[in-house]
Amino acid sequence: MAPLRVPGDKSISHRALMLAALGRGTSRVRGILQSADVHSTAAVLRAMGVSIPALDVPELVIEGVGLRGLRAPSVPLDCGNSGTTARLMAGVVAGAGVDATFVGDDSLSRRPMRRVAKPLEAMGARITLPEHGGLPMQIAGGPLQGVTWYSDVASAQVKSAILLAGLVADVPVEVHEPAATRDHTERMLQARGVQLHVDGLSVALNPRARLDAGDVDVPGDPSSAAFLAGLVAIGAAAGDELRIANVGTNPARLGAFRVLRRMGLQIAFEDEALQGGEPVATLHLRRGGLVGTTITPDEVPSLIDELPLLAIVAARAEGETRVTGAAELRVKESDRIRAIVNGLRALDVDAEELPDGFVVRGGTQRLMGHIETQGDHRIAMAFGVLGAERHNVVPVDDPFCCAVSWPSFWDDLKSVKKP
Ligand code: S3P
Repeated sequence: MAPLRVPGDKSISHRALMLAALGRGTSRVRGILQSADVHSTAAVLRAMGVSIPALDVPELVIEGVGLRGLRAPSVPLDCGNSGTTARLMAGVVAGAGVDATFVGDDSLSRRPMRRVAKPLEAMGARITLPEHGGLPMQIAGGPLQGVTWYSDVASAQVKSAILLAGLVADVPVEVHEPAATRDHTERMLQARGVQLHVDGLSVALNPRARLDAGDVDVPGDPSSAAFLAGLVAIGAAAGDELRIANVGTNPARLGAFRVLRRMGLQIAFEDEALQGGEPVATLHLRRGGLVGTTITPDEVPSLIDELPLLAIVAARAEGETRVTGAAELRVKESDRIRAIVNGLRALDVDAEELPDGFVVRGGTQRLMGHIETQGDHRIAMAFGVLGAERHNVVPVDDPFCCAVSWPSFWDDLKSVKKP
């Protein structure tokens, strides 16, 4: 069977648009994810004067406005459901020294923004947040100075916001993370001629006052591929085997595959290549046995977005799966610890909340019950995978919320599951 493809990587798609907008000259982006979150970033950049064409073309051609070329928006910047848009663009806006107000949907408005506001304020930005620390977030324009920031959250969004603020304001910044997070921003900046000094958990940016244009071939999203890997793992994929071509294999994104392998899924990385500074491969997935596992706090940053899927795989594994050190899950698009455990319990699966994680004890019984997604795309898709297993009946209350990261998920799932 010809290998499948999954939609473009969400993290890389956001960054490709932002850096194309800030570059000098013409950038081309191929294979961008066409999803609601990426549309939010495009809309925010358009509101600041960048001409971003419609995303539904194989190759987007973007004329950058340069690091000094963004203009103050005349309307609030609507980030929809997208935390990456709000947090990374907060860095860009603060760096540009323009006035802007960030707004979003109910879920995003509840999510913590102090984590980006604090370092940007330390650089001299003037930021107003509501008492609860979410949106709306107002940024008042003014000059910034450099900063050395020790972050207490392992967050690629915080790290990227600081790097982008330093880049646009042309001041040196240094970020120290408590644990390694995805490094797409660093790779993309380096590919455009920005000097970064990366040393373990620290990254320093030297100002350069310009950013070259650059082309990006967006790899398939490993976070989307993980749902198909979960489908194979629980024995619900046609032929018990799938090949997915051109998936991003940045090591900071592969934690879920390491865990699935440990649980029994057979995974081979074929046709490995480097594509514009990011590693890619064809994933060859074959069903094996399935046993529970312990996911430790140090693994969490590399699989944070995949924990809903790993929880549903755990529900079909022999024995117990335990996750700790994942309190961040409580401030994602929903409180994912609660949404996962409540969903599993609605199916009579033995699941328990921990303050910073969960415990799931797997079984093989037929599963039936309604799932409340809380409007969270990854909750909907994870339970969708469980519902694709023969004889299970697992309707989700908001199937369309998958539009945030994978609009064609339900059709794609249908085409690969066992009939
Ligand atoms: C992202 C970073 C992660 C991840 C999110 C995308 C990014 O969030 O959960 O889906 O593109 O930088 P944090 O940086 O808040 O951990």
